[in-house]
Amino acid sequence: MGFGARVAMVFALLGGAAALSAATLSAADAVAARKANFKEIGGAFKAINDELKAGAPDVAKLRPPARTIVQRSHRIKDHFPAGSGPDSGLKTKARPEIWSNQVEFGKYRQAMVISAGAFDKAVRSGDLAAITKARDALGTSCQGCHNQFREK
Ligand code: HEC
Repeated sequence: MGFGARVAMVFALLGGAAALSAATLSAADAVAARKANFKEIGGAFKAINDELKAGAPDVAKLRPPARTIVQRSHRIKDHFPAGSGPDSGLKTKARPEIWSNQVEFGKYRQAMVISAGAFDKAVRSGDLAAITKARDALGTSCQGCHNQFREK
């Protein structure tokens, strides 16, 4: 097999594997994955808030959790496949509106992606006032989605 053909085959395999993993995420796996992802996001956000509450916050310590939230905010879109809502019988706080109103859910998801990016950018700027403001906006994005789409 020529080099070109081998490269094409590797790409086909990688692409196929990626498509397969997205398509075959069972409802149970999806619920587990999204809870674990949100748990990490929650932990990172708590670390950020704890640091900002400190008398003299160390901005360098905000960088890893800020990156965690950015990266994990992008995964949320793959964690709510059809059939992984409360009808599945699985233990989940995801409300059925996530699936019946996907456009709205998508807006909240996107708002978080944007807020997370803005927060990360503020952290890199080192400007504490900007960081605090961006943190507040990020927190509002969490709260907004939870109010609409998560059971109490
Ligand atoms: C687009 C909607 C949305 C956004 C934005 C969002 N969440 Fe959530 N979150 C949910 C839903 C829905 C659940 C319930 C998941 C389930 O039980 O299956 C959840 C669950 C959680 C959980 C509980 C995880 C567990 O252990 O079961 C935590 C913690 C959490 N979110 C934190 C956050 C934080 C912090 C942010 C913002 C930085 C955030 N979320 C942004 C929708 C969202």
